[in-house]
Amino acid sequence: MSYVIGANCIDVTDRACLDVCPVDCIYVGDRKSYINANECIDCGACEPECPVDAIFIDRTARADEARAVFVADSITFFTEPLPGRDTPLGDPGGAGAVGELGVDTAMVNSY
Ligand code: F3S
Ligand code: F3S
Repeated sequence: MSYVIGANCIDVTDRACLDVCPVDCIYVGDRKSYINANECIDCGACEPECPVDAIFIDRTARADEARAVFVADSITFFTEPLPGRDTPLGDPGGAGAVGELGVDTAMVNSY
């Protein structure tokens, strides 16, 4: 189980969620932010902070294709090389250590 950021974040990237995450597992791309499922402790603190209701819990995506694509895309962000990079981001252990990435997945790029 993990929290996931969906379509509503695209081109908003409010960042209010970043301030409340106790483990700093929300990574800012370019047009969107992404939660690292391996680092998320499922505390739920981020979900009510987003002004555009972009954050949901992954199990709510089972019957919702529009959400399911973002569950998969969030995994892609960390496990496959992002555009212009040679290696995957992986699990850096905190977004502060890597800074804002300035890059999105191919799916978000084409959204
Ligand atoms: Fe962080 Fe808790 Fe959300 S660990 S990503 S604030 S569910
Ligand atoms: Fe995006 Fe909402 Fe966070 S717009 S950056 S998920 S506060």
